[in-house]
Amino acid sequence: QADVFTYDPGFTSTAACDSTITFIDGFKGELLHRGYPIDQLAEKSHYLEVCYLLLYGALPSAEQLEEFEHIVTHHTMLHEQMMNFFRGFRRDAHPMAIMTGVVGAMSAFYHDSTDIADERQREIATFRLIAKMPTIAAMAYKYTVGQPFVYPRNDLDYASNFLRMCFAVPAEEYEVNPILARAMDRIFTLHADHEQNASTSTVRLASSSGANPFACIAAGIACLWGPAHGGANQACLEMLKEIGTVDRIPEFIARAKDKDDPFRLMGFGHRVYKNFDPRAKVMKQSADEVLDLLGVENNPVLQVAKELEKAALADPYFADKKLFPNVDFYSGVILEAMGFPTSMFTPIFAVSRTVGWISQWKEMITDPAMKIGRPRQLYVGETERDYVDIENR
Ligand code: SDX
Repeated sequence: QADVFTYDPGFTSTAACDSTITFIDGFKGELLHRGYPIDQLAEKSHYLEVCYLLLYGALPSAEQLEEFEHIVTHHTMLHEQMMNFFRGFRRDAHPMAIMTGVVGAMSAFYHDSTDIADERQREIATFRLIAKMPTIAAMAYKYTVGQPFVYPRNDLDYASNFLRMCFAVPAEEYEVNPILARAMDRIFTLHADHEQNASTSTVRLASSSGANPFACIAAGIACLWGPAHGGANQACLEMLKEIGTVDRIPEFIARAKDKDDPFRLMGFGHRVYKNFDPRAKVMKQSADEVLDLLGVENNPVLQVAKELEKAALADPYFADKKLFPNVDFYSGVILEAMGFPTSMFTPIFAVSRTVGWISQWKEMITDPAMKIGRPRQLYVGETERDYVDIENR
């Protein structure tokens, strides 16, 4: 073990940052957006109102909300030339790969909203991203299933528009089921922001150099894709399907506890929550509602999920390590019942989290105190040594 080569850098860099947007108490299992508890917002509010709250710090008046929703609705279309970006991908590309590419490509397209020092341009970039993310995600899905793109409609709300862009086909009428739209909106609301998670920190760090906002959001999408972060919802459903039946649960519980086995219970555990993730509770209730509506309340995947949760919570290993279901544990069950393939679970998370990334980006750009400092390290490598010529090695 080399001597630890340490020196005083003369300042303390802040790997964390100040923020006024979201508060989490991991031990109590509390999540507040600008002071409002997530379970109240999930029950009483809706996604675009929560977007307004995250962006501007207060619940909107009726007029403010109407204007905000009007602007978002009338920015949902993509520039027609951007459709060419989709056609450059292989048909079997993961929708997250397509979203990362197309959102990054927006930085080459929308030159009138990239000067982050200009408040008006920041607002335009904000509306373009929140409005167009569902369109991009839906088009990424349509592209991978070989169906024609479905354009947004201005007479539909945010969640209904997204469902229709994903599932409508020119060959027949598509009516959005209002209960599915409500469930979709609630999933968007529950994933909107989560303080300094990996993808949000990625966006803050990328933006701290003054980089193009669209490129910074593309960096956040790339980070969210990982199975330990936003990709966990896809990994969790795939795990539940691999378990398949309730009688195989003990085998997987044992694997999750085995230090020599890399298997982890997807949808369980959290860097911050050492209690129930409050979002998981709301998601579980929503799963029951949606599956009852669809007449699949005895959905085998949901049964395995409920029994797995029960078995894990009764096991001292998980209780001692304070491992509880997180937001991803039930979301996949709902999304699959709604008709989405697992590959669309993380893109839906990205659509929702865009407002969290933007809110944190705007907070940092407008207040240097909120800036993530340049993270430093504790150097534990080799101490200084002289070069050795190759003939002497
Ligand atoms: C999200 O940061 C955010 O806010 C993220 C997020 C958001 O909204 O942005 O909430 C979204 O990413 C939720 C997390 C989704 N990821 C998963 O569900 C993947 C499965 N979970 C794990 O990989 C894990 O729990 C992490 C990555 C989430 C956190 O793991 P850490 O940081 O290692 O810490 P921990 O406190 O959770 O783990 C402590 C112990 C460790 O064992 P020891 O080394 O102490 O012996 O518990 C073990 C871990 O090995 N452990 C698990 C486990 N999660 C942790 N063992 C089995 N199954 C698991 N799921």
